[in-house]
Amino acid sequence: MSVTPVMATSPEVGVNADWLGLHGARVLIAGAGGIGGACALAYARAGASVAVVDRDQRSLDALGAELAALGAKHELIQADLTEHGAGQRVVADVLDRLGGLDVLLHAVGINDRRPILEFTEDEWDHILRVNLSSVFGLAQAAGRHMVDQGHGRVLALSSVSGLLAHHSHGPYAASKGGINQLLRVMAREWAASGVTVNALAPGYIETPLTAGELAKPGKRADLESLVPAGRLGTPDELTGPALFLSSRHAGFITGHVMYIDGGRTLV
Ligand SMILES: NC(=O)c1ccc[n+]([C@@H]2O[C@H](COP(=O)([O-])OP(=O)(O)OC[C@H]3O[C@@H](n4cnc5c(N)ncnc54)[C@H](O)[C@@H]3O)[C@@H](O)[C@H]2O)c1
Repeated sequence: MSVTPVMATSPEVGVNADWLGLHGARVLIAGAGGIGGACALAYARAGASVAVVDRDQRSLDALGAELAALGAKHELIQADLTEHGAGQRVVADVLDRLGGLDVLLHAVGINDRRPILEFTEDEWDHILRVNLSSVFGLAQAAGRHMVDQGHGRVLALSSVSGLLAHHSHGPYAASKGGINQLLRVMAREWAASGVTVNALAPGYIETPLTAGELAKPGKRADLESLVPAGRLGTPDELTGPALFLSSRHAGFITGHVMYIDGGRTLV
């Protein structure tokens, strides 16, 4: 008797058979960068309609061209998520354009690698607004709709920096630790309404966010030496976890911080 391997990699498993149950799902992704972009394409391949919001029109246009090449239904929204009320406005726009909202993935973030003693209060405020307050604004607006409809999936990108005390990561680490706790409380408050809330916490992934740091002499080897897997990650390695936690199979998984880090947080 032949046995189908549990880890079957046939594309039919994920796409044609709609194993994930994401065909026709309405997905809002904040962030058209390395991770948000890879996830947008993955949701589209799984048959979802995708709205992407970013402040950078060029990133949106480049991603939009890739989504169009897949034949995916997609919407591009240019907005600065640090503006007051931006989360509510964007979610209202997405509900209008996609006709509903089933999944929110927040993948917007910035970093400024300097020691804490060098930061001004304004610089601290800005990083916290981009990385943490925008999660509150978008997830609160999405959650209000999802709680009413009785189902939904909220995901946000945290980081290993939300757990480890990396040097020169003060505001960034605080924002990621804040995301973890904000999502855990959302998970608890919304669980009875069928809305799950989870964080994805990557280790070092090669994207525009990390390109400058990786270009410094010796930096890549230094960082790789900290990872038990012996390498950095790719944006595509975030897509499986994002799709799974958005899928019909993850309805009883909520309040988690999933580390996707090649073992970085083990050592
Ligand atoms: N790349 C990594 O190594 C890594 C590791 C851990 C966590 N993360 C997290 O993953 C998420 C995505 O990171 P990435 O590597 O894809 O970064 P990225 O720089 O490639 O993409 C981030 C996107 O956010 C957008 N953005 C920034 N400020 C904005 C604002 N005010 N309003 C709207 N859009 C704004 C940028 O234009 C950019 O397109 C972030 O939350 C980041 O902290 C990344």
